[in-house]
Amino acid sequence: MAVLFKKPQQEQLASFFNKDILNAAQFRLEDIETIMNTAGHYEQLLIDKKVIKDMEGKVMAALFFEPSTRTRLSFETAMLRLGGAVITVAESETNQISSTAKGETIQDAISVIDGYADVIVIRNPVTGTADRAAQAALHPVINGGDGSGQHPTQGLLDIYTIMKAKGRVEGLTIALVGDLKYGRTVHSLVDFFALYGCDLILASPEALKMPPEIVRNLRAGGINVKEIDSLKEAVADADVLYVTRVQKERFPIVAEYDQVKDLFIVDQDLLREAKEGMIILHPLPRVNEIALEVDSYPGALYFQQAHNGLFVRMAILALVTGSVL
Ligand code: CP
Repeated sequence: MAVLFKKPQQEQLASFFNKDILNAAQFRLEDIETIMNTAGHYEQLLIDKKVIKDMEGKVMAALFFEPSTRTRLSFETAMLRLGGAVITVAESETNQISSTAKGETIQDAISVIDGYADVIVIRNPVTGTADRAAQAALHPVINGGDGSGQHPTQGLLDIYTIMKAKGRVEGLTIALVGDLKYGRTVHSLVDFFALYGCDLILASPEALKMPPEIVRNLRAGGINVKEIDSLKEAVADADVLYVTRVQKERFPIVAEYDQVKDLFIVDQDLLREAKEGMIILHPLPRVNEIALEVDSYPGALYFQQAHNGLFVRMAILALVTGSVL
């Protein structure tokens, strides 16, 4: 930790106070550095078995209207590890707050919950919901994933994982593979990689290509982007292989999902083509896109990646509520 991450400075910390975390485009490199340093600070405190009270007396509302294991539990654990408390809604599996089921708008519901909590984390299947919640709330709102839109905290924990594994992000070649159309994680991640000037390989079946406006924006910003449909080619050049699940739940027609679900599988045979030292990331959950045999590959870091979500989300919660002591 000490080697990689510096102690965050007071003026850097202050710049986050009361900020919403909605999308990757809102971040500058120095903001990411502050989050990484703060995450490193908290990881070290937890390694040292310290009891942390930075958010004692504060409350986080966890509003998850789509299934989540990692994002929800890591945010809730983050809040508890920081000494704070969590409130949530019992009806999340119905994708509704009870009041919205009765016809209340999300804005009204958020205005109410804003009076109970110091920070709100929201996941919703509709792209743009986190933005609408942020407009209604006085406290900071954190986007925990909105439809096929953005998932910025996942992107930040991915950057943290790469920094820990490779010591840097600058100058790396990153291959993003799989469902680049519906996967919101990669939509956030490419903005972060663009800040670091990474070369990008986008490898997907034709039907799951990255939305063209995202590719256009990257190229307009001077980023070297190669779009291919070969997993083998992606692996040969990548320092980081970022694998994504085909997002069955976002396909309008199930038959279209069935046509593409088994096209990109990372297995040991494929890894024989890999560049020395390549690491494999995946936001999880995985279905079949990474064979189980790959878990023993030394660069398979997806479970560590999920664990890193705790430190990064501790940093984000503490930063936006002005709680880092
Ligand atoms: N990576 C991710 O967002 O996982 P969950 O859907 O379990 O939160």
